[in-house]
Amino acid sequence: MSLQAAPISQTSPAPWWADAVIYQIYPRSFADGNADGMGDLPGVTARLPYLHNLGVDAVWLSPFYVSPQADAGYDVADYRQVDPRFGTLQDFDTMLAEARAHNLKIIVDLVPNHTSDEHTWFQDAVAAPVGSPERDRYIFRDGSGDNGDVPPNNWQSIFGGNAWTRLPDGQWYLHLFDTKQPDLNWNNAEVRAEMVSILRFWLDRGVHGFRIDVAHGLVKADGLPDWAAQTKMVEGSERRRPNPEDTILTPPYFDQPGVHDIYREWNKVLSEYDGDRMLVAEAWVEPMEQLFQYVRPDEMQQAFNFDFLLAGWDARQIAESIEESLEQAGRVGAPSTWVLSNHDTVRHSTRFGLQDPTRFPKGINATDEQPNEELGRTRGRAATLLMLALPGSAYLYQGDELGLPEHTTLPDHLRQDPAFFRTNGVERGRDGSRVPLPWEADAPGFGFGDYDDAGSTPGATPWLPQPDTFGDYAADRQVGMSGSTYELCRRALDYRRRNSLGQGSLTWERQHNPESGVVAFQNGPVLVVANMGIEPVKLPAALKVEVASSSDAVGNGALKPNNTVWLTL
Ligand code: GLC
Repeated sequence: MSLQAAPISQTSPAPWWADAVIYQIYPRSFADGNADGMGDLPGVTARLPYLHNLGVDAVWLSPFYVSPQADAGYDVADYRQVDPRFGTLQDFDTMLAEARAHNLKIIVDLVPNHTSDEHTWFQDAVAAPVGSPERDRYIFRDGSGDNGDVPPNNWQSIFGGNAWTRLPDGQWYLHLFDTKQPDLNWNNAEVRAEMVSILRFWLDRGVHGFRIDVAHGLVKADGLPDWAAQTKMVEGSERRRPNPEDTILTPPYFDQPGVHDIYREWNKVLSEYDGDRMLVAEAWVEPMEQLFQYVRPDEMQQAFNFDFLLAGWDARQIAESIEESLEQAGRVGAPSTWVLSNHDTVRHSTRFGLQDPTRFPKGINATDEQPNEELGRTRGRAATLLMLALPGSAYLYQGDELGLPEHTTLPDHLRQDPAFFRTNGVERGRDGSRVPLPWEADAPGFGFGDYDDAGSTPGATPWLPQPDTFGDYAADRQVGMSGSTYELCRRALDYRRRNSLGQGSLTWERQHNPESGVVAFQNGPVLVVANMGIEPVKLPAALKVEVASSSDAVGNGALKPNNTVWLTL
């Protein structure tokens, strides 16, 4: 069986995003250009050579817009301005120009489901009377019960607690996330027009694409009917693989058919611009067939593959996910994407070091099971190497290239994620994956605030503390060091590009045996073998090791457990 990932409906050459490796920057925690303890755009600009050297094609930046930071910037108060914490519009333009000079494309994050409660629209809505056009931009409703003090329906926030907050005048407004993130009303024409205008604002500045936050949430079912269950964006601890007979219940606020009209309109807007601009959906939608509806030819270009992310360190689940992703992608003529970590998940190097490496905890604190760091690092590298050999487009989260683990002992009093507070700490939250990057092993704050490499700017304490072990992972201990995770990724990316693996096709090979923990496939010139089992796997003798996930991955002609190799003739 051969599975193709390149978009079949596109003419050649394929658009840049079809096989791009895209690096996610979480601006607060990437590099701190003004040494105030929080990352910023000048910090990003200064580190672009590092990304160019790594060999990624594009960068996706999480939000840097004006925001009270109630949800680390996913609560936008002004969509057309850079928050002073992160710099200025001029800094953005400089960054974009420098990125171009380094042959890197820039994707920005668009948050269309909700604004901040400090956005002028919401402030106007609060000040305006019930039933006013200002209120119609959001989802205001009267409550039920004798005094209207019962929320309009039973929806719960994704972050925990009620999804409705009441204003002093008695009306309630909907927020699928935090109280400070009121949901927009996508039945309102002004809302639709404004978001298109924001798209154009950034397209005109020259961005190459947008990551669409909560892309499946914009349209709510008519009448806002009650919903029986609480919904999480990341389901339970296991990836759900329903039987075809099972009905998947879709909440009335996710994946409603009407969302697709919005993306059809946006597709047209993008097509007015040159350079294959793109949209990538953050949509926690299942089954996969439903997810791939977002990347039909007249909608978005990509959607994050969370099924793959949830598959864990498990050959059977990974193999199933790869196969189904490529099949579904082929049906709609879009590339599949691959992702292992992001700013909302526990880092994969840490998840794969847990006793059950398919577990998906919502954050980890000091009282929880601690990962085996060494095992997690080894498996993390192997998983990254497997992912980079797959046809399609792959996403790296900042620090993946360093093999960075989660901070698993962050004290509660330093946590900032609203999910931690809204669940009273039941969910530890996402802060552990958002810790500032280590750049220099021996510098204060591991060089996070020392962007000029001159050693002259020690920088304020990073906004979240880094664990002591981060020094071992620091970029200056890895760049140019043979055997480091960074050099492993660099080599893999270089080989991937030169051999167009991202535009290749996948064929399961003789060694492929998921039941025994082995995933093995051919893509172009390379035979990829990943060993997630417990026994060494015999490798074909005639082949040469092109890239290996660790220096001792292969011994006695066999691949050791917890490793991946790329082999060629
Ligand atoms: C997305 C973001 C997440 C944010 C949420 C609300 O899931 O990735 O970080 O909290 O949307 O905007």
